[in-house]
Amino acid sequence: MEEKDYSKLRGKIIVTTLCFSLIPLFALGISIYHQFSVSYTDRIMEDLRTMVENRRSAIDLFFSERVSQLTTLAYTHSFDQLKQEGYLDKVFDIIQTRSKAFVDLGVIDQEGNQVAYSGPYKLKGLNYKKEAWFAAVMSRGVYISDVFMGFRKFPHFVIAVVRREGGQSWILRATIDTYIFDAMVRAAQVGKEGDAFVVNRQDILQTGSRFSGELLGKPDCPDFSASVGTSVEEIEWNGHKTLFAATTINNNKWVLVIKEDPEEALTPLLRGRYIAILIFIAGASIIVLGTILIARAMTARLIQADREKATLDSSLVQSSKMAALGKLAAGIAHEVNNPLAVIKEKAGWIKDLLEEEDVANSENYREIEDAIAKIDQHVERAKKVTHRLLGFGRRMEPLREMVDINKTLDETIGFLENEARYRNIDIRTDYLENLPVTRSDSTQLQQVFLNIIDNAIDAIGKNGEVKIKTGLVSNNSEIAITISDSGPGIPGEMLDRIFDPFFSTKKVGEGTGLGLAITYSIIEKLGGRITVESEGGHGTTFMVYLPTQER
Ligand SMILES: Nc1ncnc2c1ncn2[C@@H]1O[C@H](COP(=O)(O)OP(=O)(O)OP(=O)(O)O)[C@@H](O)[C@H]1O
Ligand SMILES: [Mg+2]
Repeated sequence: MEEKDYSKLRGKIIVTTLCFSLIPLFALGISIYHQFSVSYTDRIMEDLRTMVENRRSAIDLFFSERVSQLTTLAYTHSFDQLKQEGYLDKVFDIIQTRSKAFVDLGVIDQEGNQVAYSGPYKLKGLNYKKEAWFAAVMSRGVYISDVFMGFRKFPHFVIAVVRREGGQSWILRATIDTYIFDAMVRAAQVGKEGDAFVVNRQDILQTGSRFSGELLGKPDCPDFSASVGTSVEEIEWNGHKTLFAATTINNNKWVLVIKEDPEEALTPLLRGRYIAILIFIAGASIIVLGTILIARAMTARLIQADREKATLDSSLVQSSKMAALGKLAAGIAHEVNNPLAVIKEKAGWIKDLLEEEDVANSENYREIEDAIAKIDQHVERAKKVTHRLLGFGRRMEPLREMVDINKTLDETIGFLENEARYRNIDIRTDYLENLPVTRSDSTQLQQVFLNIIDNAIDAIGKNGEVKIKTGLVSNNSEIAITISDSGPGIPGEMLDRIFDPFFSTKKVGEGTGLGLAITYSIIEKLGGRITVESEGGHGTTFMVYLPTQER
């Protein structure tokens, strides 16, 4: 697999894991929040309903108490008693000590004349016959008026009861200033934006309001004047969602309206939402981060495993090539060596004969001598190949002696020094002092180093440098020998083949192509490994690793 395949795989792992973890998390978060907000909103509406109904009960109780106070008064006293000013004052004082709700008290005869009055104003003698409330109370017996300004030019409302006594009717009438009633309604205001007020059936404000208009004016809110029973709803008002609760009071004459800003009521829910979002973001980031890290770790492990497998595969291939070649080589070398020995012996014999015979003057003497020299030379060459093949094929069991690598390298360099000097190639060494020993075969190791350095010298040709370095790697469990040259390097496509038997780029007759194959097989037998790095044009580096051995 190539790098981009691995990153594709990593991408897939990340996307799949994220889908499987984030989508359920997201769905769970949304559904919990939705469920919670629905029940929370229901709860707010319910609270509002309870509040408006409680207020209604309180207000209605206030009205019924006032009415029953007046009724009791009217039915426990006669018209003649109450029309006496001093008596009425006394009765009014008693009522006032119990409750300040009444501002004044008046007795009105059936003609509409106020025959007695107790209170802070001068209202005695006024005639109410033409007032709307007068007719209403006469016909209904009990009457609570809307708020009005009246003679006093002050907002108030009137409670009046009629008593029929003998053949005539008379009215006991009391005034209630709106501020007492206003305070009762205002108690239902909630929060900074909340409002509470009362409208009559003509949609006229019967109390002051906080934000929704002046007393006796039109309220700035939807029209609830026709409301029946209790209602709670969310209404878009002035471009703003607003909660309104409405309920009828005062015997269905008025409507109590409570207004609430849902945002204010929902603040804890919104705060909860921010916390949920924060938790979600934090959770999602941890999941994303974890997924990326795990995916990276997984692909890194995969890459490593693939690489190890590839190395193992290639070394298996190499080993099997070696094994096959070994058998073949031993057979061939053996078969070819005998005829070669005969050819060589016969060529020597012909040479000896030529020296003995007087053929020096023969016309073809030189040619015969040349031919013999050539036979000799090529037999030598063939022997060199068979010799190497034999060594390879026999797979001599290596010795297991303590080997000092630095020393072995120095000895090997000794063999090549002349050649290197001749070609103006500098062999530099950089050894790690006190390098641990390895249990190995020094002669076979010499063969290894010789092959590698030989190749390096061949690759450089003339004028260059070969660097040989020793050191420890893998937690000191391996000795590393690095041999690099300043030669032309090995092109990538050839790099895989240089350890193959008979692979050579050298001219026919100059290289057998067995040097590195033998090197590979020796190192394998010695329990080490060899790697190569090269970029065309930048020299080549061979690295040989051998296991260390405790001294
Ligand atoms: N240091 C190097 N720089 C460049 N090419 C190299 C180097 N070492 C090896 N090679 C290449 O690897 C090939 C195989 O090397 P190997 O030692 O097996 O055979 P050879 O050198 O061609 O023959 P022989 O070892 O029998 O003389 C060489 O022909 C050469 O092309
Ligand atoms: Mg070679």
